[in-house]
Amino acid sequence: MSLCIDGKLLLKRIEHLSRIGRTPEGGVTRPGFSIKESQARTLVEKWMAEAGLETSVDPALNLIGTCWGKERGAPVVVTGSHLDSVPNGGRLDGVLGVLGALEAVRSLILSKIEIRRSIRVVAFAAEEPNIYGFSTVGSRAISSSLPEGALERKDPKGLTLCELLSRRGGRPEEISRARFDPSQVAAFVELHIEQGPFLDIQKIPIGIVSTLCGIKRLLITVKGRPDHAGTMPMNLRKDALAAGAQLILAIEMICKSKGEGMVGTVGKMTLAPNQVNVVPGRAELELDLRTHDDELFDRIYAEILEACDAVSNERSLEISLTARTGEPPVSLPEDLSRVIVNVCQDFHLSYLKMPSWAGHDATQMAKITKTAVIFVPSRQGLSHCPQEWTDGKDIKTGVRVLSETLLRLANWDE
Ligand code: HGY
Ligand code: MN
Ligand code: MN
Repeated sequence: MSLCIDGKLLLKRIEHLSRIGRTPEGGVTRPGFSIKESQARTLVEKWMAEAGLETSVDPALNLIGTCWGKERGAPVVVTGSHLDSVPNGGRLDGVLGVLGALEAVRSLILSKIEIRRSIRVVAFAAEEPNIYGFSTVGSRAISSSLPEGALERKDPKGLTLCELLSRRGGRPEEISRARFDPSQVAAFVELHIEQGPFLDIQKIPIGIVSTLCGIKRLLITVKGRPDHAGTMPMNLRKDALAAGAQLILAIEMICKSKGEGMVGTVGKMTLAPNQVNVVPGRAELELDLRTHDDELFDRIYAEILEACDAVSNERSLEISLTARTGEPPVSLPEDLSRVIVNVCQDFHLSYLKMPSWAGHDATQMAKITKTAVIFVPSRQGLSHCPQEWTDGKDIKTGVRVLSETLLRLANWDE
């Protein structure tokens, strides 16, 4: 028997949520720990309660909705994703995994099928990279893997993450209580849009993720010298931005030389003094590197260091390279993805086993439990932009697969 997913209700809710933080371009700006993220959480909590889930918000501001199984002491099945977005991002990144999970569990409750394990739907707090230099704050708190001193880190105005969290109603002093006991979790499944083009190109409705990419974030600081933009001759300058630009192109070449094995992006640059008539004295480049081959990180790091030295010598200025965060690639367990394969086969759906090049809360959850990620197609592979889109039919298919998977896992004997 197939569970009855209300696709119309789900699409209506996705549209409703996309109004919180909507931008003039039709995108969504809902940063982690912003008032907008809190508003989204409050709305989803109301929908969870209406569906019959028991809700709570943990000290890290993760929203948790529990559907009780008949064996309350048995390890639980967890599903979910995030409600925050990148600036001017799309309406589905993260949201699909929260609202899709809620609809999947709502359908289970309505079906009155008995489940043995409880199912927890989690809206993880602050998944996207933040001003404090790391991402996946909520799922790190749950998996006990926040970076050292994370709460004491300051934003450029001096506000610590601890203060920000309190301001939004979190309880930083109790953050360790957000941790899930690994022995009490049976599995984690995250439904997410692919955010890349492969399912759309091949017209395959379901992706089953085999590995999650490793992500390293590096900070490159170029210290040049601020000078008058008119009076300092070209050959006497130490232009930090020109040096940074040269480095960006060198990094692009290095990543391209690794074929399909590596992607690298300088997605953020901060200049000082950032003034049209002053030669830039300082440039900070934030670099995001991703691969599925952990050894490549070391090689590429050495090559980038060499490029920094070359530019620094050529232009006689100082360049430093600091590692900020790093997550190795994660292989997801076969036995869990087998459950999803079986669901697809039983539903006569084609599927693709594929790597994920995006970061997910799943990367953190994989540290404490067996983890799986289900993808649905992203139109033209677009994501992190207002054009992010998945057809309603594909969304419904993804949620059907998720709900059946959750049902099987809730009665699963590993
Ligand atoms: O950066 C990422 O891949 C994710 O969207 N947070
Ligand atoms: Mn994202
Ligand atoms: Mn996401």
